[in-house]
Amino acid sequence: MAVRLGDEAPDFTADTTEGPVSFHQWKGSGWAVLFSHPRDFTPVCTTELGAVAALKRDFEARNTKVIGLSVDPIADHHRWKDDIKDVTGHGLNFPLIADPEQRVARLYDMIHPNASDTATVRSVFVIGPDNKVKLTLTYPASTGRNFQELLRVIDSLQLTAKHAVATPADWKQGEDVIIVPAVSDEEAKKRFPAGFTAKKPYLRVTSARSLKAEV
Ligand code: BEZ
Repeated sequence: MAVRLGDEAPDFTADTTEGPVSFHQWKGSGWAVLFSHPRDFTPVCTTELGAVAALKRDFEARNTKVIGLSVDPIADHHRWKDDIKDVTGHGLNFPLIADPEQRVARLYDMIHPNASDTATVRSVFVIGPDNKVKLTLTYPASTGRNFQELLRVIDSLQLTAKHAVATPADWKQGEDVIIVPAVSDEEAKKRFPAGFTAKKPYLRVTSARSLKAEV
């Protein structure tokens, strides 16, 4: 069964490079990213894991824990760590799940048989403090992900969880945001004291400054 937006993220226990993990307990009350890669000792995956390791502080600044997964055994994960550090300059600094029996991969529908029977695709799940799935992404094995984009999305998810706003195309932290249509003009005047610009009756933008003051 596919895991969809708004679903509770399925709980599981698994062996990882940092010892056994019980997922919900490990995640705690913060945010989490669970992502799969197809195989250890493969070129794109090596670059991806180093890229995620390089962003450790950026994820921490967003109260977000990261955990990776592939269907390789734990011994392979440990042997592969040296290559990741060697190639990217960043050692593995987050847990990597060993899922040789594909238990977690199947729970999260990370195996897409028409792409590969034996390896996980590049899935990403962002999970909120309430353990609900806030974002899913699926990339093929041939395309490495842009993890800066993942940080950008987490910024949007965290902002829109707190305020009655949405973020436009290509939005970045600090840029103007959209007031959600469910908020009337009258209500928006009260909630966003910095004011707003109506580009269309349904497209009202306000500055990031408004959000600090939003009541
Ligand atoms: C890679 O990480 O380079 C890769 C993994 C599986 C299939 C193709 C490429």
